Amino acid sequence: MAEHQGFTLWFTGLSGSGKTTITTHLVKELRKRGVPLEVLDGDIVRENLSKGLGFSKEDRDTNIRRIAFVANLLSRNGVPVITAAISPYREIRNEARELMDGRFVEVYAKAPLEVCEERDVKGLYAKERSGEIKEFTGISDPYEPPENPEILVETDKQSPEESAKQILDFLEERGLIPPGA
Ligand SMILES: Nc1ncnc2c1ncn2[C@@H]1O[C@H](COP(=O)(O)OP(=O)(O)OP(=O)(O)O)[C@@H](O)[C@H]1O
Ligand SMILES: [Mg+2]
Repeated sequence: MAEHQGFTLWFTGLSGSGKTTITTHLVKELRKRGVPLEVLDGDIVRENLSKGLGFSKEDRDTNIRRIAFVANLLSRNGVPVITAAISPYREIRNEARELMDGRFVEVYAKAPLEVCEERDVKGLYAKERSGEIKEFTGISDPYEPPENPEILVETDKQSPEESAKQILDFLEERGLIPPGA
């Protein structure tokens, strides 16, 4: 068995729900604990691995399948992976789950659309409302929430630190990461 256990922490949630923010907290803490890991953040993947893809259903599915493909390669070799992409479609997330059978931990970053829009971290909601961008998840494009995520973090009710702690506790309980100091 690998010294470290591979797993994929798979975030899903609306834009602005907190996937990247919580990931940053997790990376900091996991590095402290000596856990090697890789992050596949939606924004970075779309600039590289998925450069040129758009936001049609087909392109979104391709993007998510690529993320799952890489996450599988790493996690099956003992490298923990965090993916932080909206991943709006249940069917494709479940495909990823099947691919990484037993190593897949789905985290639903849940916040009401109004809260995400109020945050508007990247100014995307404003652009959607002004018609500058189309096919926006949660408004003009579907978001299918997970029915049975391993972890639910309600980011309108918790701080990012609390959400990160909840996830770390889960991973600890499952024996996937060593306990904190
Ligand atoms: N409990 C929480 N967890 C995460 N973020 C929170 C929480 N509470 C408030 N926030 C704030 O919500 C915002 C979340 O933005 P973030 O970029 O992390 O979202 P995202 O899900 O990565 O969006 P996108 O899909 O567009 O990349 C940040 O400004 C963060 O400070
Ligand atoms: Mg993000």
